[in-house]
Amino acid sequence: MRLPCDLQSAAAALLLFTSPALARRIPDVIEGDNLDDKDTSVRQVAIIGAGAAGSSAAYHLRKYAAQYNVNVNITIFEKTDHIGGRTLTINPYDDPSLRLELGASIFIEKNYILNQSVEEFGLRKKDPDVGSDPKMGIWDGEKLVFEIDTSSSWISQLWHIVWKYGIRTPKRTNDLVQETVSKFLRMYEEPYFPFKSLTQRAYDLDLAPATGATGEEFLKANNIYGAYAHDIVQASTRVNYATNIGRLHGLDTMVAMAPAGATAVQGGNWQIFQKMVERSGATIMLNTSVSSISFAKTGSEDTTSARYRLRAIHSSSQEDTSYPVEFDNVILANPYQFSDINIADGVLETHIDEIPYVRLHVTIFTSPFRYSPGFFGLENSKALPGTVLTTLGKTDNATSGVAGAGSAGFFSISMLRKLVNPKTQKEEYAYKIFSPEKVTPEFLSRLFGVKVPETFIAEPNDQSSAEVSPISWYYPHVFYSYPKAEPRVTFQDPIVGAGFYYTSGMESFISTMETNALMGKNVARLIVDDMRGVESGGVQSHDGSLAPGQQLKMTCDRAGRGAGKGGVRKAGEVPKTRPTELPEMPLVDL
Ligand SMILES: Cc1cc2nc3c(=O)[nH]c(=O)nc-3n(C[C@H](O)[C@H](O)[C@H](O)COP(=O)(O)OP(=O)(O)OC[C@H]3O[C@@H](n4cnc5c(N)ncnc54)[C@H](O)[C@@H]3O)c2cc1C
Ligand SMILES: *[C@@H]1O[C@H](CO)[C@@H](O)[C@H](O)[C@H]1NC(C)=O
Ligand SMILES: *[C@@H]1O[C@H](CO)[C@@H](O)[C@H](O)[C@H]1NC(C)=O
Ligand SMILES: *[C@@H]1O[C@H](CO)[C@@H](O)[C@H](O)[C@H]1NC(C)=O
Ligand SMILES: *[C@@H]1O[C@H](CO)[C@@H](O)[C@H](O)[C@H]1NC(C)=O
Repeated sequence: MRLPCDLQSAAAALLLFTSPALARRIPDVIEGDNLDDKDTSVRQVAIIGAGAAGSSAAYHLRKYAAQYNVNVNITIFEKTDHIGGRTLTINPYDDPSLRLELGASIFIEKNYILNQSVEEFGLRKKDPDVGSDPKMGIWDGEKLVFEIDTSSSWISQLWHIVWKYGIRTPKRTNDLVQETVSKFLRMYEEPYFPFKSLTQRAYDLDLAPATGATGEEFLKANNIYGAYAHDIVQASTRVNYATNIGRLHGLDTMVAMAPAGATAVQGGNWQIFQKMVERSGATIMLNTSVSSISFAKTGSEDTTSARYRLRAIHSSSQEDTSYPVEFDNVILANPYQFSDINIADGVLETHIDEIPYVRLHVTIFTSPFRYSPGFFGLENSKALPGTVLTTLGKTDNATSGVAGAGSAGFFSISMLRKLVNPKTQKEEYAYKIFSPEKVTPEFLSRLFGVKVPETFIAEPNDQSSAEVSPISWYYPHVFYSYPKAEPRVTFQDPIVGAGFYYTSGMESFISTMETNALMGKNVARLIVDDMRGVESGGVQSHDGSLAPGQQLKMTCDRAGRGAGKGGVRKAGEVPKTRPTELPEMPLVDL
């Protein structure tokens, strides 16, 4: 069974790859311009965004193109000066030789695409940065409701859990996680891969009952409730998705509890995506923000010959210019609502819905101090956990956003690792806080039991900030980190126009580096199959067989509201929307 020490490492945890079909090697990338004579028609593909999804799309496009002997020319546009998007590192003490993950920090061996890439690219794995103190506690704003020492023996940890929560509920939870994850894993395999409709796959793979219910409802329907769900599962959804189990859907809840063995790449996870981009042979336009997309020729709305014209702004000039190459395919690989792109009328055949995202404050800092025992209602520092996850207090309501943090006020605090301050040569600790609001000096003063002056919250590179103890270095950042992921049974599908693809619908289903990379790979496959004239990505028909290329007709989808409001429901409501042509699927008995 899994131990709560894995809670911290649960985020990316998803994929138990056992299928040998998946290990099938795709021919290596042909380096250089080995474009042959047979096919002079080169597909011009634009990818907007070089995060997990866009990088993976480029990398897999190149692989599939080599495998099937078709020509693609890939151009990636990236607004920032780096590859990786929400996967990025920062340098504590502004020392370039030190790196800490600011965004996506962990994945598991069974995240097939990432794990395989790490091996292929010769990157090195390391333990995630949570190891400097083996003690973990769950705080409800008043008291520590659970504590465990992950350096103690396996059996003693097990005993500790069983003593507090019994054996059946943890076991049942574990079984449910395994079952749900194994359903999801089929999405990597034929006939479920590739896919034109995420909504369809949610039904095909019997995952709609998980996405259509809150974590709490989904657990209850599976006979899991009480203190274990409230403490352990909820601490896990809060650290991974900044959301309580009464709000987050069941699939993300399972992901947050998914298997152990989390890992990270030495020097930063972003290197996986950097290598993917390098291997793709794409032209990469950094510091280049796409500002608009339109048909290249007016009147070419004729979908068979659609070619797109992009305009982009380079950060150095701020000038909005037309990109010289016209594109056959566009892959929009970032949440559209944050992309600041003007898409001309008629280009999108499916409306891309706005999705409510979590606004998460991630604060990393260094300090010579350890937490004050008094903050957690403890007598002395012996029992102090380095990692403090949180759950709701007795009188807290399971709302979302700032109120959702409850009396604890934050989602997690972890002591990442010990570092030597280059200025003082003294050992200090690096901490990370996830919170719904800005961390205040008042909060830090209470946390450490020392006066943290108001002046310490200076800009990251402000020299004065380095001088002020007890916080020796400070880096605050705000992310639109992931969707709030309230229950829903329809999702934004990846094809949104003629030859126009969108990856971020995946985020409302499961938001991780791996799943977004999977969507990038899926889109790459759909494009290459389209070039080959092969119908793929079809849906399962009523008798269970696959009808290749068959388009899912959904009232809400084709009306241009695919993942629309109709698909979102409030917690507590039984999901009503169901794709009309699908077989009856038993939803969880709520
Ligand atoms: C704090 C935090 C912790 C997380 N922890 C984990 C974790 O431990 N494990 C895990 O697997 N996942 C984790 N996640 C989630 C994970 O980071 C995301 O799911 C994933 O990285 C998203 O990848 P993406 O490619 O879809 O989007 P992004 O990474 O957001 O990439 C989109 C890219 O598009 C670019 N872009 C946007 N607009 C334009 C434009 N107009 N023109 C050009 N470029 C543009 C952006 O600059 C960005 O680089 C975490 C996320 C956060 C914020
Ligand atoms: C590929 O795209 C780049 C720019 O994005 C362009 O400079 C180059 O000429 C294109 N190559 C081919 C073979 O079309
Ligand atoms: C991008 O911009 C940054 C500064 O904002 C600069 O340091 C970097 O060299 C630029 N990179 C490219 C490829 O233009
Ligand atoms: C993950 O990668 C390692 C090599 O880094 C490999 O030995 C292992 O088999 C991979 N795991 C899976 C599940 O693919
Ligand atoms: C929770 O909600 C109830 C009913 O709306 C309200 O009375 C109570 O004050 C709320 N609790 C907190 C801590 O906000």
